[in-house]
Amino acid sequence: MNKKIIIANLKLNGNLKYIKKYIKKLNKYINSKIYKIFIAPPILYLYFSNLIINNKNIKLVSQNIDKNFSGSYTGEISGKMLKDINTKYVIIGHSERKKYHKENNKTILKKIIATKKSNLIPIICIGENIEEYNKKKSKNICKKQIQYIIKNNNIKILKNTIIAYEPIWAIGTGKNADINHINKIHKYIIKYISSINKNIIKKIKIIYGGSINDKNICNIITNKYVDGLLIGKSSWKIKNFTKLLNIINNLK
Ligand code: 13P
Repeated sequence: MNKKIIIANLKLNGNLKYIKKYIKKLNKYINSKIYKIFIAPPILYLYFSNLIINNKNIKLVSQNIDKNFSGSYTGEISGKMLKDINTKYVIIGHSERKKYHKENNKTILKKIIATKKSNLIPIICIGENIEEYNKKKSKNICKKQIQYIIKNNNIKILKNTIIAYEPIWAIGTGKNADINHINKIHKYIIKYISSINKNIIKKIKIIYGGSINDKNICNIITNKYVDGLLIGKSSWKIKNFTKLLNIINNLK
């Protein structure tokens, strides 16, 4: 069985002392046969995190990337710089970046291209808002977000990527999508991409994010269409995150 991907998205939380404590604790969880641990600390702490991770089993994820490689772009960080400090993955198109930084399909595609050219792996976030969910448009919205990438580039760009289905209404709200809905959307994404290219889909992982907690994790992570989880709030306190890891470890 492929190991499930468990990503801690620390968002804008933590400090040097805390990240050190956090990674030290995680080092005890790296030998699971069921999952691989990924950590997305604030970008500022990636370099330090790389220095103290004592095993390649914890993968470093950047929460952002710039679409440019170098030049006059004050405040930005390039894929090559991320690669330089051993980052392996980049979260792209997170709904918080769309909301607070006005990132759109065009920016997202440019960032995916920059990530790929830097030999990093994109974690591409897609998902519908509450109105779209209520109008039963979830499938269509997810399709459109993927379709933009394919139409304006090439399906091959999706090879060796991770797609994170993160319904916007489930992020940070305490209201996760139920497993039937997640199952339906993940299957639909597989069907849609397979209808264009049967081989690429085998090289794509589809994970879920949105209000994962100790009550719902079992049900979601054991679903065969869920390759992993992108976890926000429940990963911020190491005590809560290791609780989730322990739950997975104890699955039969
Ligand atoms: P929550 O787990 O806090 O809902 O956040 C999910 C998320 O945004 C992960 O990227």
